[in-house]
Formats: sequence, structure tokens, C-alpha cells
Amino acid sequence: MNEAIVALVRFFRGSALLGFTPLVENQTLLQHAEDAGVEIPSNCTSGTCGSCMVTLLSGQIPLPEDLPPGLDDEFLIEQHARLSCIGIPSTSVDIELSPPL
Ligand code: FES
Repeated sequence: MNEAIVALVRFFRGSALLGFTPLVENQTLLQHAEDAGVEIPSNCTSGTCGSCMVTLLSGQIPLPEDLPPGLDDEFLIEQHARLSCIGIPSTSVDIELSPPL
């Protein structure tokens, strides 16, 4: 029997899996976290404050061409930082809830 392969968004703290939810197209990481019952701190929800920053462990969350004020640091980009409120996963992703710093 064929089973449909579902893309997943999974949330970790360290090695602990906190929750997961199926990938929904064009939905932000923050909305996926809500669906998974995982709380990510957020404030501005517009990419400015940086409070929703997480680390992308695997998968793709494309960066906008113009980096938002909350993510305008080369080092953070190199460390795979993403902002949950504006980041939209395009594949299955694994997310570490702590920011890279
Ligand atoms: S909530 Fe402010 S950058 Fe995401």
C-alpha cells in the first residue's frame, strides 16, 4: 500500500522533540509552531524585533532578498538563524528553538 509522504515541520530543544506538524504551504514557522502546540516567543510579528529567532537545523526556509531588521547580521545568517514570524518553510524542516547566539 502506498502512503502519502507528508512534509513535516519539527521543533526541537536540544535533542528533545517538542512537537511537529505537517507542512502547510505559505504558512509561517510561527503558525506551524502554534499548530504543533509549541510556543515560540514573538512580539512584533513583522521581522523587526528578533524575539522569535530560531535555528534552522535542516531543510529550507528561504531568506528574503532584503534582510529584515531583526536578521541583518552576517554571523546570524551563517549560523542558520531564521525569524519564525516571517520565515516560510519550503520543505520539511527541523527547527531548534534556541537562537544561534
Ligand atoms: S516577532 Fe519580532 S522578529 Fe519575529
